[in-house]
Amino acid sequence: MTDALANSLSNRNPESSNSAGQYSGDDSNDNLVAEFAAVSAAMAEQLAGHERLIHRLLLAIITGGHVLVEGSPGLAKTRTVNCFAQMLNAKFTRVQATPDLLPADLTGTNVYQQHNGQFNFIEGPLFNNIVLMDEINRAPPKVQSALLEAMGEKQISAAGKTYALEDPFMVVATQNPIEHEGTYPLPEAQLDRFMFFVHVAMPGPELEHQILDIVLHENTLGGHAVADGPRLNNQHISAAKAAVAGVYISDAVKDFIVRLVTATRGHGTGGAEARAIEHAASPRGTIFLAQAAQARAWLDGRDHTVPDDVIALAPDILSGRIVLNYQAQARGISGREVIHRIMDNTAVL
Ligand SMILES: Nc1ncnc2c1ncn2[C@@H]1O[C@H](COP(=O)(O)OP(=O)(O)OP(=O)(O)O)[C@@H](O)[C@H]1O
Ligand SMILES: [Mg+2]
Repeated sequence: MTDALANSLSNRNPESSNSAGQYSGDDSNDNLVAEFAAVSAAMAEQLAGHERLIHRLLLAIITGGHVLVEGSPGLAKTRTVNCFAQMLNAKFTRVQATPDLLPADLTGTNVYQQHNGQFNFIEGPLFNNIVLMDEINRAPPKVQSALLEAMGEKQISAAGKTYALEDPFMVVATQNPIEHEGTYPLPEAQLDRFMFFVHVAMPGPELEHQILDIVLHENTLGGHAVADGPRLNNQHISAAKAAVAGVYISDAVKDFIVRLVTATRGHGTGGAEARAIEHAASPRGTIFLAQAAQARAWLDGRDHTVPDDVIALAPDILSGRIVLNYQAQARGISGREVIHRIMDNTAVL
């Protein structure tokens, strides 16, 4: 691996571990990692301050995960997912959730064809590789449960039949934290389907300057955000998935993950924090944390996970899958803070 590439890999990921050993496998795997790094760097140029979101989207696509993005309007959520889909040459669609949305608006439905007198299934927006579901909490429960089946089983049921979805299939949903009126909060079962919960914050003055420069420059180019540049395709993603599954995860790292997740249920040294938790993390939390740690290691050019992978990812994976009790909510504590406290009290053995 060249120095330039090694630098771009560690610059790209804000929490990149210094102790990371370099991947020592064959060249083709190095090339594949380099192609992902190039795409990540190209995206970062278009999206000021969104390195974390870009990193989580990449981890999710190579582990089959889904991402929930929480943030105020206008923080380039749509821009990010749009750019990501273009870089992946993926079929992409955006759905704006509204209270009158029907499950068939997502899945598709049988439509009567006058010319042959038959009903044909017309595929809905879920038949894409990347589905951006904006303001998911505005969708009524029946729509949310249609999405739940698609996310969990990678298939949908419509008009009495089951249809397999394409691979890769990834849902990126957005939620606006300030608007709660007329929303249907996602039930725990729905939240549990997501791998990552990423919070997008308002930019400071420096980032605001960068945003302005990016957009003004783009306007001089006629408004094309993603010009020529590195691209990935489905083959890259399948190869990355296979490589990620082979990343070594030691018993010590597995044990650390298990102790973090079971602490949300009151076990072990971090378990005292569970007093604030009404609904603990399920085994999906454990599985997602392990898979995401493998993917982070792979993107960093390593063939093994380290505890740092878990430490970097646990807040974005576990915070959204615990529900705090009323006492904790009244004290203004967030799920993220509880996960940080659990991490502080859970040693890497
Ligand atoms: N960090 C950023 N980097 C680059 N452009 C940005 C950034 N933040 C905002 N913008 C610009 O702000 C505008 C709004 O972006 P976009 O529509 O993607 O936001 P959004 O988060 O999807 O908003 P909404 O919640 O209203 O759908 C775009 O012109 C985008 O280029
Ligand atoms: Mg948007």
